[in-house]
Amino acid sequence: MSDRWYSEAVIYCLDIDTFADSDGDGVGDIQGLISRLDYLAGLGITCLWLQPIHPSPNRDDGYDATDFYNVDPRFGTLGDFAELLHQANNRGIRVIIDLVVNHTSDQHPWFQSARSSPDSPYRDWYVWSDQQPADRHQGMVFPGEQNETWTYDRTAKSWFYHRFYKFQPDLNFGNPAVRDEIKKIVSFWIQLGVSGFRIDAAPFIIEMTEPGNANSPKDFAFLTELRQHVQWRSGDAVLLAEANVEPDELQKYFGDSGGSANRLHMLFDFMLNGRLMLALARRDPEPVIEALRETPALPSGAQWATFLRNHDEIDLSRLTADQRQDVFREFGPDEDMQLYGRGIRRRLAPMLGNDRRRIELAYSLQFSLRGTPVLRYGEEIGMGEDLSLPGRESIRTPMQWSMKPNAGFSEADAGKLIRPVVEGGDFGYERVNVTLQRQDPGSLLSWFERMTRALREAPEIGSGTCTPIDQVLPPGVLAHRADGPTGTMVFLHNLSTKHATVDLGSLYEEADLPNDMLSDRPYNPVGKLDALELAGQGYRWIRLCRSYAGAGPAGRPV
Ligand code: NOJ
Repeated sequence: MSDRWYSEAVIYCLDIDTFADSDGDGVGDIQGLISRLDYLAGLGITCLWLQPIHPSPNRDDGYDATDFYNVDPRFGTLGDFAELLHQANNRGIRVIIDLVVNHTSDQHPWFQSARSSPDSPYRDWYVWSDQQPADRHQGMVFPGEQNETWTYDRTAKSWFYHRFYKFQPDLNFGNPAVRDEIKKIVSFWIQLGVSGFRIDAAPFIIEMTEPGNANSPKDFAFLTELRQHVQWRSGDAVLLAEANVEPDELQKYFGDSGGSANRLHMLFDFMLNGRLMLALARRDPEPVIEALRETPALPSGAQWATFLRNHDEIDLSRLTADQRQDVFREFGPDEDMQLYGRGIRRRLAPMLGNDRRRIELAYSLQFSLRGTPVLRYGEEIGMGEDLSLPGRESIRTPMQWSMKPNAGFSEADAGKLIRPVVEGGDFGYERVNVTLQRQDPGSLLSWFERMTRALREAPEIGSGTCTPIDQVLPPGVLAHRADGPTGTMVFLHNLSTKHATVDLGSLYEEADLPNDMLSDRPYNPVGKLDALELAGQGYRWIRLCRSYAGAGPAGRPV
């Protein structure tokens, strides 16, 4: 495996509160998660991304912390967390946590002190304006749920800045004391044993907010500082950030203009996410090819994190209006499936009409493209959403473990659950659950296990280059290749519903006993690659050749 473990990882993202409840209070907890680690290991997960774990009034699902040095008492204690790290490590699973430091909860003692007096030592930890700022109604992230970014605080007798909801005041990163505190927080969790952080809202952290200026300057140097600090504390800790920004801005998040990767190790690939949705909606690979071609060159060691679904709405704001309409029409036609005018608040299986072939195709595509795949809990069994819940809660329902009451998530009375489980219909826990799928070699869960195994045997995907194969192909077919020191893989995905025959004979001279590693069905052997059959919505992962020289001391079996 590459020294850069994150390049070849499979990241699984979950919120402790909806995963597994061990003590019957209706809220998932750390002990519950520990009891499910073997399940995750069996799924081939190598890294867990835990969504906010800190104490919080939970007005934004934990993205509003009141204490960065503790875990939410509903989840357990710091001792439980240390045990989780130990147990995960025993199974070869790393843990990264959400670092939500762009803002705090307004209930955080720092903000309570800051608002209480201009002389508070914490006053300058937040961003204030004595006058009403002219950009008060600009830059909202949650239109419809938020109508300003500056709110007047009567106690403070001043306006405070909040890029998100008004109960989430932004910290002032222009203040060196805030920067030092964030480094201390990071050090604390590294010392406990986490392998890194998912940095929430990176572009806003580095925003040096000037009242009245909706386009305040950014201080990228903080990312360099943070990286240096993290690396001194733990050489292989990783920073994975959320930065949904214009393509020409992206490189600055990975590294400075000197060309080295000295800032964030990984960024979520929002651009690819939107294009993948468009490609699936139109059954046309062109948007994916475009996304691959337009990807800025990354400095060595920088990596994308790919995803189809996460805990937020699917953000389609980087598509054109026409493109967005095509995705809405296909995957979120009803108004209550859409959110903030830009996104879809659904899980993937229902978006794809619960069509098993299309779900496999979509995940096969995501996992075979460059970058490190991130998988959201429950997607591996094809969970659905609950549109009767408000906003993004629709996709944050409890994990469906079994046919037991409450889907085996909790023994509490149903009314005490953090959120209701999805019941009845095609996606209810009675039909969609781990227990049923575990027993069925043909289930989606079993397929995910096979797919992650294939991925781990194909390190070229994470560590190598990814190139669309430039030749005339049947309509709807994407062919791409991954080349790395360990060899070459070739992938075919047929986004159309029509059977196709693909001629990749020109690659045969590079091949060394080529063979299928994963496919939607058994196909005839690949032969000379000049007549590759591909069913409608089918896919094939073909190993073209393998280089043992590049495989590292232990080598790897094909
Ligand atoms: C981005 C997170 O993904 C989202 O869930 C949260 O509401 C905002 N940041 C605010 O922290």
